[in-house]
Amino acid sequence: MTRAPSPPASWWRTAVVYQVYIRSFADADGDGMGDVAGIGARLPYLADLGVDAIWINPWYRSPQVDAGYDVADFRDIDPLFGTLAGAEGLIRDAHLAGLRVIVDVVPNHTSSEHAWFRAALAAAPGSPERARYLFRDGRGPGGDVPPNDWRSVFGGPAWTRVPDGQWYLHLFAPEQPDLDWSNPEVREEFLSVLEFWLRRGVDGFRVDVAHGLIKAPGLPDIGYHALPLGPHDVALPWHSDDHPHWNRAELHEVFRSWRALAARYGDAMFVAEAEVGPIERYADYVRPGELHSTFNFPFLKSPWDAAALREVIDRTVRVYGAAGAPPNWVLGNHDLTRVATRFADGDPARGLRRARAAALLMLGLPGGAYVYQGDELGIEEVVHFTPGERQDPIFLRSGGAVTGRDGCRVPLPWSGDEPPFWFSPPGAAAPWLRQPASWRAVTAERQLADPGSTLSLHRTALRVRRAHDGFRGEGFAWIDAPGEVLHFARGSAAVAVNLSDRPFPLPRGARVLVASAEPAGGAVPPDAAAWYEP
Ligand code: GLC
Repeated sequence: MTRAPSPPASWWRTAVVYQVYIRSFADADGDGMGDVAGIGARLPYLADLGVDAIWINPWYRSPQVDAGYDVADFRDIDPLFGTLAGAEGLIRDAHLAGLRVIVDVVPNHTSSEHAWFRAALAAAPGSPERARYLFRDGRGPGGDVPPNDWRSVFGGPAWTRVPDGQWYLHLFAPEQPDLDWSNPEVREEFLSVLEFWLRRGVDGFRVDVAHGLIKAPGLPDIGYHALPLGPHDVALPWHSDDHPHWNRAELHEVFRSWRALAARYGDAMFVAEAEVGPIERYADYVRPGELHSTFNFPFLKSPWDAAALREVIDRTVRVYGAAGAPPNWVLGNHDLTRVATRFADGDPARGLRRARAAALLMLGLPGGAYVYQGDELGIEEVVHFTPGERQDPIFLRSGGAVTGRDGCRVPLPWSGDEPPFWFSPPGAAAPWLRQPASWRAVTAERQLADPGSTLSLHRTALRVRRAHDGFRGEGFAWIDAPGEVLHFARGSAAVAVNLSDRPFPLPRGARVLVASAEPAGGAVPPDAAAWYEP
């Protein structure tokens, strides 16, 4: 009797996903802001790059107070970006180009312009309209002290008062009121929103602030008085085991209901933004029947240090493996400093060498990986802004004390010798964030013509990753090497990442498949990486 062949592994277990930050990817209509049609025009670039899927940051109707993470209508596209019909067309065209499409779902909050929040403001305290959000009376004799001591991630109190005296909760900007996930109506609404997009063919969702939806009953104080007050009330990643608004156990029943819904739509997947401290905690989000994946923030935030990276890789492979989920790897996103700058230690050339080596490390590991747009070009964090040019609410709300995230969000340089480098067509409005003139040296067009460029490196690595049995599988085993070298086998292939200051000789007879810097005399140079066949 012959056995039926085993079904192919789900696509998301090994997918490389390219993050399209829509505002800054490509502008087709010339308003200086990226759009749906711009993505459509650049699908051939993405298919040729060799990624499996794209994740598109929020494109929904939004006043854009937080770059689209303030959603006014989850079922429509912001006119800034295009139309719903255009988005449907893009999903179809991406599929024809062999690319899956992941969209953002933003369940923790809506925009203050959302119909629900407007209705809540118009309704009385205690009404069903207010019960979709977290409205509370204040403390103190006149109720003029916020209901508790929670702080906004973007700075300042997490509460804003409305004219009738009640307060509402916003873990982010005041224009992003938090929903009350203990209200069944909220749960139903999001199942319906997910289904709306699944019916339009999306292949998955990136879940914004997935660890924040559930708040502890009674909204107890966090107790900040125990912490030194000061500028760090702006960034608040304060993860305890029983935090009143992060990582609550009740989150998981929400995600189980989402997984059950997605299972009715083929192989649709969820990847969670849930920054919850040590990697062991991430496993709870990817248990069988829950989400498929989570962004690996411990890896993303690791310094360029062999011991630190080895430890996070080891723990990730172990922890995700035990949960039956594929490991996840990511080196950048629209919230964090560009990888080429993070690893530079003040020397941009060193930063680029390390970013290239890090790309081969990430893409050489088993499981799924996320490439943030522009990292395939090796571009750096942009720091040239005047205060008036900055757009991030973190900068604005902190009175300039915190630089914010504009530096990693600058529109991509596609071709030509001067801004906007064909991000926009000729005669267009200036890009919404100013591009450096020096980007003429790193446009996609220039890098395509240069086999040694960072773009060519990504294209080669992604081609090898797809074609080679070793990288297609999920096998992973460390190979003996000096402490400053990350050296591991992927089935019949191997990866060596040299973080030391001496060349690392590859085994005799090694056949190099791709290298971030030309191996000299069979050795991987410092701050470089190579994939090879032993
Ligand atoms: C996530 C997004 C970030 C946004 C925040 C609030 O962290 O990645 O860009 O500001 O959520 O929605």
